Amino acid sequence: MFELSETHELLRKTCRDFATNKLKPIAAQLDREHRYPAEQVKALGELGLMGVFVPDADGGAGLDVLSYAIAMEEISRGCASCGVIMSVNNSLFCDPIQKFGSADLKKRFLGPYASGQKLGCFALSEPGNGSDAAAAKTTATQTSNGYALNGTKAWITNGYEANAAIVFATTDASAGHKGISAFAVPMPTPGLSLGKKEEKLGIRASSTCNLIFEDCHIPRENLLGEEGQGFKIAMSTLDGGRIGIAGQALGIAQAAFEEAIAYSKERQAFGKPIAKLQAIQNKLADMAVKIESARLLTWKAAWLKDQHVKFTKEAAMAKLAASETATFVAHQAMQIFGGNGYVTEFPVERHYRDARITEIYEGTSEIQRLVIAAHV
Ligand code: CAA
Repeated sequence: MFELSETHELLRKTCRDFATNKLKPIAAQLDREHRYPAEQVKALGELGLMGVFVPDADGGAGLDVLSYAIAMEEISRGCASCGVIMSVNNSLFCDPIQKFGSADLKKRFLGPYASGQKLGCFALSEPGNGSDAAAAKTTATQTSNGYALNGTKAWITNGYEANAAIVFATTDASAGHKGISAFAVPMPTPGLSLGKKEEKLGIRASSTCNLIFEDCHIPRENLLGEEGQGFKIAMSTLDGGRIGIAGQALGIAQAAFEEAIAYSKERQAFGKPIAKLQAIQNKLADMAVKIESARLLTWKAAWLKDQHVKFTKEAAMAKLAASETATFVAHQAMQIFGGNGYVTEFPVERHYRDARITEIYEGTSEIQRLVIAAHV
């Protein structure tokens, strides 16, 4: 039978209650003040949500990737900024350390991050390249006992609060993508400075900034995997990350949908609640179908990752469907709210702003289509 296990249902309920009681009431204020939700992130750590599928022996919750997808949706339903903070730490930081890190790197960079005491970030994009990830210009030059990093990484979620970053840099410029390597970089560290905090349309409670490397020395043992393996580490990490962002997008969509349903039952027009009008019913039906379809794709991609089989295509499909669903649903919710959807007194305008980034980061919708096309 197709249903979630008792454990998954329990997790879903726990995350939903936490989001309803602790995140939803403060999400608008955090957004307005562009304030990092330190207290809420600490609570996410206590719930085991900062390292959901990291084994418990390594300091995580020891759950599966499906649990992670479920948790990402529920948390993002309450606060999309908390969702991305959690997603970057889980998928883009802990996952590659777990998969490619030496015992020493795991000891230093996994336990405290998976338990939520420390926060990680992921530095792949640069001011001159985003979608074309292999064109990265940051260099890592060999020194007597390690590497010197030089260059600028851009759009780094969690950059201001992170205690470490996974940084991709070229160790052999003649080898194209095969010359890119990955490094675990503690933060702060000499030679690494932060650019200005970006002023964003949405997810404003999470920080985004450049990481600027100027002769930043990294010891040899902080190389993640092998030299030249960095691009593949980045790509396989992003496969998992896309499941997380699909979950975030679903949470935003679900939140906007719930607002739209409640409002359409209350709001009167033409002598009845607007929920009785077919124009509104059509919208609600389309929203419901898109959310359910995207959720099934997301859960399937997560399940495939749990089976340890290739899930690149399915993760791209999930991310594409869920992010476009978030955009669509938030748009329709605003239509249902009319003018009330356009003002900050109601949460729909925030969901509309938050939804937009899910079609951009961790691979744009255009890149997801490219990945899917390559697999069909
Ligand atoms: N897993 C493992 N290896 C992979 C892979 C995957 N999913 N995808 C590609 N590779 C390997 C290929 O097998 C190939 O290996 P070989 O050379 O040994 O054959 C190699 O990588 C190069 O593959 P491609 O030729 O397909 O690579 P490309 O240069 O054409 O790029 C791309 C492909 C899909 C466009 C890729 O560049 C991409 O995904 N771009 C988007 C980048 C992105 O998502 N950035 C997000 C930034 S992080 C972020 O947003 C975080 C945040 O803050 C929230």
